[in-house]
Amino acid sequence: MPKAPVNGTELHYRDVGTAKDVVLLLHAFPLHSGMWLRQIAALEKRHRVVALDYRGLGKSAVPPEAWSMSLLAQDVRALLQHLRIERAAVAGLSMGGYLAFELYRQLPGLFRGLALCDTKAGADTEEGKATREKFARSAIEKGLGWVADEMTPKLLRPQPDPAAVKEVRGLITGGTPAGVAAAQRAMAGRPDSTATLASVTCPVLVVVGEQDGLTPPAESEKMHATAKGSRLVRIPAAGHLPCIENPEPFNRALVEFMDGLPA
Ligand code: MLT
Repeated sequence: MPKAPVNGTELHYRDVGTAKDVVLLLHAFPLHSGMWLRQIAALEKRHRVVALDYRGLGKSAVPPEAWSMSLLAQDVRALLQHLRIERAAVAGLSMGGYLAFELYRQLPGLFRGLALCDTKAGADTEEGKATREKFARSAIEKGLGWVADEMTPKLLRPQPDPAAVKEVRGLITGGTPAGVAAAQRAMAGRPDSTATLASVTCPVLVVVGEQDGLTPPAESEKMHATAKGSRLVRIPAAGHLPCIENPEPFNRALVEFMDGLPA
């Protein structure tokens, strides 16, 4: 994976395909860009696909300073500048969706289209913020094995495929405890993005796994009702990560959306 020294950190990223139209993929917590391999393969013939590891996650491991969604969006902007990309369709899954909202606030002109997958527009409750802080401390104390034990069942459907369990555990243990803690704290501090979503002027796709327990289909229905002219696709036999658990219908929805966007 290439790496770029940008915004005071070093970001590892994938940059695949030579087409003019760019698709930017923003990953979920506490994973990394490797969760998108099947989507990169499905998109790369007709699109240039860029997927980064956020600071502290995946290979972009950096010293464990605190960061915010705003700083993360600045990282993405610096990477896009490094790659000379001015316009892109953006797909974000869960935390990737939170980041996409922040990126839209900072740089609306970037967006050719927005795909919001298994995510939500609302902010955390006070109780939700306290749970994240507890998780952040435990991640540092107990390590990535504990993080994988906690998160894997939440990320997958109730009776998951053992291969998916193995894959997701592998993605989680590719990060660092400090990065996981910093990501939880950054998510706790994110604002409500409902007004941002209502202001989006590019085409919007909303996708959700029917058995998603972390950001359930009701959250996607709310986003679909908020985003003007959006399309909602439900993926059967999938929890929070339909990109891994049921990639065929997930890819079909994503590719059809990306292929149909104006240049
Ligand atoms: C994610 O999948 O990115 C996270 O579970 C989102 C969250 O914790 O809100």
